[in-house]
Amino acid sequence: MLLNFNDNLDNYKLMRQAIIPRPIAWIITEDDKTNIAPFSYFMALTSTPPTMVISIGEKSSGEPKDTLANIRKTKKCTICIPKESQLNKMHFSSKELEHDISEADLFDIKLEEKAKEFPPMIKGAPIAFFCELFEELDIRGSKHKPIIVEIKQMYIDESCFTNREKLHFEFAPIARIGGDYSFLGEKIPAPKIP
Ligand SMILES: Cc1cc2nc3c(=O)[nH]c(=O)nc-3n(C[C@H](O)[C@H](O)[C@H](O)COP(=O)(O)O)c2cc1C
Repeated sequence: MLLNFNDNLDNYKLMRQAIIPRPIAWIITEDDKTNIAPFSYFMALTSTPPTMVISIGEKSSGEPKDTLANIRKTKKCTICIPKESQLNKMHFSSKELEHDISEADLFDIKLEEKAKEFPPMIKGAPIAFFCELFEELDIRGSKHKPIIVEIKQMYIDESCFTNREKLHFEFAPIARIGGDYSFLGEKIPAPKIP
């Protein structure tokens, strides 16, 4: 089957089943309330400078999602990489809420201050990136706004290190597969190219 992308196709449905696994950015931002939400249109972009991209859509009302509104306002966000045991709370935090209701309060998600001048991280997350807004992109014809953020600081939980001196670490991440999830399981060493 060869499909032509046009208005009659559900692009999102097709792309999210095929472009897998997608990492999950569990993003904390601040306004009057602390906001938490997961995003899987998310990827590393450049290592120097250290940037990542997150594509953020609109609320059902057509307003910007709270994460985008807060990043535009404060120019900062903290991005946690969730581990297997955090799947439920991460998923719950995607619920669309009024701007003045915090997912942290509603779903009892514990936060921890880690890097000065940045939003708190999710307590127990293996990895957190403390980021500043680098650039907001405008994709013509899209309701999604890709946000490029620059990593300023990174937290690695001590329990993740396999070799601390060499900064080798491992953790049990969650990936998005279509609208569901997967644990990544077995690691396969990269074969030598002949
Ligand atoms: C695993 C997962 C990944 C998601 N990825 C995205 C995404 O990449 N872009 C997006 O706009 N919404 C995404 N969502 C939906 C948002 O999490 C949801 O709209 C949330 O209410 C946004 O919250 P906010 O208004 O507090 O920013 C995702 C939801 C889940 C559960």
